[in-house]
Amino acid sequence: MRKKIIAGNWKMNKTPSEAVKLIEELKPLVANDDVDVVFCVPAIDLVPAVEAVKGTNIQIGAENMYYQESGAYTGEIAPNMLTDIGVKYVIIGHSERREYFAETDETVNKKVLKAFEHGITPIICCGESLTQREQGITIDWIRQQIKIAFLNVTADQAKEAVIAYEPIWAIGTGKVATSAQAEEVCAAIRACIGEIYDEATAEAIRIQYGGSVSASSAPELFAMPDIDGGLVGGASLKPDFGKIVNYNK
Ligand code: PGA
Repeated sequence: MRKKIIAGNWKMNKTPSEAVKLIEELKPLVANDDVDVVFCVPAIDLVPAVEAVKGTNIQIGAENMYYQESGAYTGEIAPNMLTDIGVKYVIIGHSERREYFAETDETVNKKVLKAFEHGITPIICCGESLTQREQGITIDWIRQQIKIAFLNVTADQAKEAVIAYEPIWAIGTGKVATSAQAEEVCAAIRACIGEIYDEATAEAIRIQYGGSVSASSAPELFAMPDIDGGLVGGASLKPDFGKIVNYNK
């Protein structure tokens, strides 16, 4: 039985002092031992956030990471900078990073390999545009993203990975995918992992849905057989995140 994983993606929101305040507010609301709870916060918030969640069920994740160990990469964050402060997760290849910061399936793959090398769990994002959905090429597109993201990743590593299926047309738009649409793609992702590796790996890997998840849509989405939780943007900055984390209560 896969444990659900519900992660907040704060994006470029909250200063360090605001982050600590929000964590204090959300702490009692997100207590639920049935699920893994992760707050992915801006780089500058990571240190105070790790401190603020000590003694709780919340883990802290980064929103990005570079694939080199160190060196002349102005403005980037190295993997050992994350592990040094106790960061356990990192979002890789969010569609906003692909669109505004030129990330590609190839850089996603390099980052995924580097994260595993350092024992950080990657939350690997994939998702189609509205045009791709309307052209009927969603599954082909997602399979391509997954196959490249997992190049040279071992089965043991893949078992620990988290994939976030986030249709681009559903992100920040309030247009949540139906549970049937989300399940169809998440099941296809699991089948693809089964083809690359084996049945055991496909059964172990956790696949989230993301895109306008709210307290009202979460219970139906998370009840789908191949949806193991969510990556939540806007609603993760509000008390509603507590309801999403406690979708099963
Ligand atoms: P949203 O964002 O929940 O605000 O749509 C999700 C995401 O981009 O991870």
